[in-house]
Amino acid sequence: MESFYAIVLAAGAGTRMKSNKAKVIHEICGKPMVNWVIQAVKASDVDNIIVVTGHQEEQVRPCIVEEVEFVSQREQLGTGHAVMQVIPYIEGEKGNCLVLCGDTPLITSETIKQLIQEHTENKRAMTVLTAIFEEPKGYGRIIRDYNQNVAGIVEHRDANAEQLQIKEINTGMYCFDIEYLLDSLSKLSNQNDQKEYYLTDTVSIIRDSGGKVGATILSNVDEMMGINDRIQLSCAQKIMNRRIIERHMSNGVTFLDPDSCIIEDNVTIENDTIVYPSTILEGNTKIGQNCTIGPNSKITDTVIGNNVTIINSVTIDSKIDDKSKVGPFAYLRPGSQVGKNVKIGDFVEIKNSVVGDDTKISHLTYVGDAEIGENVNLGCGVVVVNYDGQKKQKTIVGDNSFIGCNVNLVSPVEVKANAFVAAGSTITEEVPENSLAIARSRQTIIKDWVINKGRLRGKKPEV
Ligand code: UD1
Ligand code: CA
Repeated sequence: MESFYAIVLAAGAGTRMKSNKAKVIHEICGKPMVNWVIQAVKASDVDNIIVVTGHQEEQVRPCIVEEVEFVSQREQLGTGHAVMQVIPYIEGEKGNCLVLCGDTPLITSETIKQLIQEHTENKRAMTVLTAIFEEPKGYGRIIRDYNQNVAGIVEHRDANAEQLQIKEINTGMYCFDIEYLLDSLSKLSNQNDQKEYYLTDTVSIIRDSGGKVGATILSNVDEMMGINDRIQLSCAQKIMNRRIIERHMSNGVTFLDPDSCIIEDNVTIENDTIVYPSTILEGNTKIGQNCTIGPNSKITDTVIGNNVTIINSVTIDSKIDDKSKVGPFAYLRPGSQVGKNVKIGDFVEIKNSVVGDDTKISHLTYVGDAEIGENVNLGCGVVVVNYDGQKKQKTIVGDNSFIGCNVNLVSPVEVKANAFVAAGSTITEEVPENSLAIARSRQTIIKDWVINKGRLRGKKPEV
């Protein structure tokens, strides 16, 4: 049986990124760029994927989540040298092999399928994916003979003045017949400006040995963008982000200003949800139907039910159930579980706490390491004093309780169900069911103190 392989080159350092991190693991829409390439390959039904790593491979390999075979390129002596490292894996095999670069994250499975189809239908020894560029600077140029057949590829830095005029460029993606690939690799040399083994030289070698070489011209040039520096990284981020948002829009999600939003690839959003401007949705965030999200919100790894409203807020690793309202200016930190029909209002911070259904926490409140029951009201300025300077302790507030404004609940403490706590109280002991707790000093009035002390600040009152 004929086998089909894909080799993804990811061993280079990417010096133009000026980064301490290898280029291929810089993220685009929340995903290391090499993973985008691997996923496009997987989606075009090629399962034998070999990833060549080298520079910082101990950091690069763990970033690759898909099932792939890894091969090391100890010294990075060029793209041809990278593919040579794979020889032991494909030697003796019959069939075809894709070669793609780990720094072209915008490639789609449709294009890969087209490359494979043209290659196999035309029974070619090699097919190069090319594109027409008005400004081809930096790319390898496609040399065609008088019959318009592909005759070779010349790197920009090795090209003469005439070749530099050529606008058809090499995208760095190819499909090879395995036997021709193996034969051409054995003939590669590093006699060029960079003293590298260029994979691109396989074109002329295969032609010279009688193999048929052709090109598939890419219609959507965005897809071939190679990321070499931070400017290209930001362009690719923009294009990928737009693709993700358009996918959500086709599924029935409204974006009022898509260009101002950043949506990572794993985020799911159900239909009739409206996303307002400047909203960032990250990680494994899941949003239900009919929600209103944003403006100006950053939502990370948060599971949100249906009919939820979030305005000007930040949520991390939390859960918000149906019909609840969060914000403006709320902060849900990891482990916050907000029930149904809850109100989390302005300047409220919740951390590692459960908030029961129908509870209202409307303003200026901190809730940490607490269990707040159902239908509770926490007044303005309630503070759960969860940290004694050494350890975090737990507070429990039972169902239907009412906690007045500016109350401190000093943990560990429990307010039982149906209790009332008077405003300004500092609660350090359990409040039993159905009772009122007041924990503050009584008010004292000293009549005419202001006049007698000569402390009057306005006009003297007439007697
Ligand atoms: C390459 C092509 C060029 C093409 C361009 C498209 C060659 C010689 N040139 O140039 O014709 O127009 O891509 O983007 O192939 N890599 C390794 N090991 C190495 C060197 C590189 O794994 O020793 C990997 C890199 O990590 C990267 C990919 O190969 O993912 C491409 O390498 P890069 O140095 O970016 O090649 P370009 O100069 O862009
Ligand atoms: Ca490149």
